[in-house]
Amino acid sequence: MFPSASLVAFTFLAVAYGQGVGTNQAETHPPLTWQECTSSGCSSQASSIVLDANWRWTHTDGGFTNCYTGNEWDSSLCPDGDTCAQNCVLDGADYSGTYGITSSSDSLTLKFVTQGQQKNVGSRVYLMAPGSDSEYQTFNALNKEFTFDVDVSQLPCGLNGALYFVEMDADGGMARFSSNTAGAKYGTGYCDAQCPHDLKWIDGTGNVEGWTPSDNDPNSGTGNLGTCCNEMDIWEANSISSAVTPHPCTVEGQTSCTGSDCSAPGSTGGVCDQAGCDFNSFRMGVEDFYGPGKTVDTNSPFTVVTQFITADNSTTGTLSAIRRIYVQNGQIIQQSDSAVDGVTGNEITDDFCSAQKEAFGDVNTFGQKGGMAGMGQAFSRNGMALVMSIWDDHAAQMLWLDSNYPLDKDASAPGVARGTCGTDSGQPDDVESASANAQVKFSNIKFGDIGTTFTASKSQ
Ligand SMILES: *[C@@H]1O[C@H](CO)[C@@H](O)[C@H](O)[C@H]1NC(C)=O
Repeated sequence: MFPSASLVAFTFLAVAYGQGVGTNQAETHPPLTWQECTSSGCSSQASSIVLDANWRWTHTDGGFTNCYTGNEWDSSLCPDGDTCAQNCVLDGADYSGTYGITSSSDSLTLKFVTQGQQKNVGSRVYLMAPGSDSEYQTFNALNKEFTFDVDVSQLPCGLNGALYFVEMDADGGMARFSSNTAGAKYGTGYCDAQCPHDLKWIDGTGNVEGWTPSDNDPNSGTGNLGTCCNEMDIWEANSISSAVTPHPCTVEGQTSCTGSDCSAPGSTGGVCDQAGCDFNSFRMGVEDFYGPGKTVDTNSPFTVVTQFITADNSTTGTLSAIRRIYVQNGQIIQQSDSAVDGVTGNEITDDFCSAQKEAFGDVNTFGQKGGMAGMGQAFSRNGMALVMSIWDDHAAQMLWLDSNYPLDKDASAPGVARGTCGTDSGQPDDVESASANAQVKFSNIKFGDIGTTFTASKSQ
């Protein structure tokens, strides 16, 4: 359930920098502040965000010829991945003009469709470490909480404004793959639990072999290489539905894959839990909790708190529960309790996940690929990078988030209904024309000790 992504890498190290990357457009990361909190207060962190490499212009080193146009590689510049990496560079990004990405102090807005010289659809950005232009910020969320404000009021059916963690290399893969001289500064190294094949660059080489243009996306295709890693979806949402979903993998760190090592939709093989163990209130039987005019009213902004509880309440303990709290208009709103027969509680635990999978008739790939403990280990190894994105869904119209899914099951069967969007909603052509001005706004990101990143101004 993921958007286009990609990275680049190429050789040509030569001089300090500017080599290995194009210089037609300077790369200037939009600033974004966030706060790190303890019981004695919060301290402001001056970071910035970087656009993923897949959205960038990739062209000849020192020239202007496209190495990739639309959804196809240039076969003479890119007869194979390594030659491609030698011939082609990644250029800087015009964040607002081309991609509709703007930031102001602690707030980031991602617009859906931007009509610059070309039409751009969606974006994916990463948080940089404070003061750094070459490393992503990484988080170990064990025994901590992560909090942000979000405005989803301009995100209709079929769109997804996401905020999540993935276990990608903090340097974008530069140290492990010497042919990648662009690195995190140019948004390289993405991976997630879908093992996406739509990245143009993986492990410092072009994903040229087996590249097949998408039949319904003029900007995307898939190659033989996929790129897998642990993924913790704190927030996948629009104004109608939202989900929090851990997706563990059996691999440590970013790991490329081919063939059946990669995960595939509906498959229990591969190295990652593609389905995840999601908590979506609507899917868990509480239909009046999240949405326009509902308990969490998506017509106006609200605060999303996610707590990562460990078994021994320490930062080195085993992840045991993922807890969600909302704050809106000064009022604390606890996540709704499950109303599904056989499934109890309002937090994600191994017990919740196995009960939910049983109730919905799904295979428990979450448990098979590592469960809560595996998800926790991804945080404690080297930390996880923070991703924010806006996207539409060429594979499944986002029906898995906001409508009935899968469509071949009875909508009244447990787990099928996930939101009030129509089953014909979310067609990319439709949403890109009817909702071109859609956007998501993330702000006021805080990370720290449990209970230190939010307050209620009204009694409950
Ligand atoms: C962890 O903290 C919670 C809440 O403060 C408490 O109820 C629980 O007993 C603690 N668990 C352990 C193992 O210390």
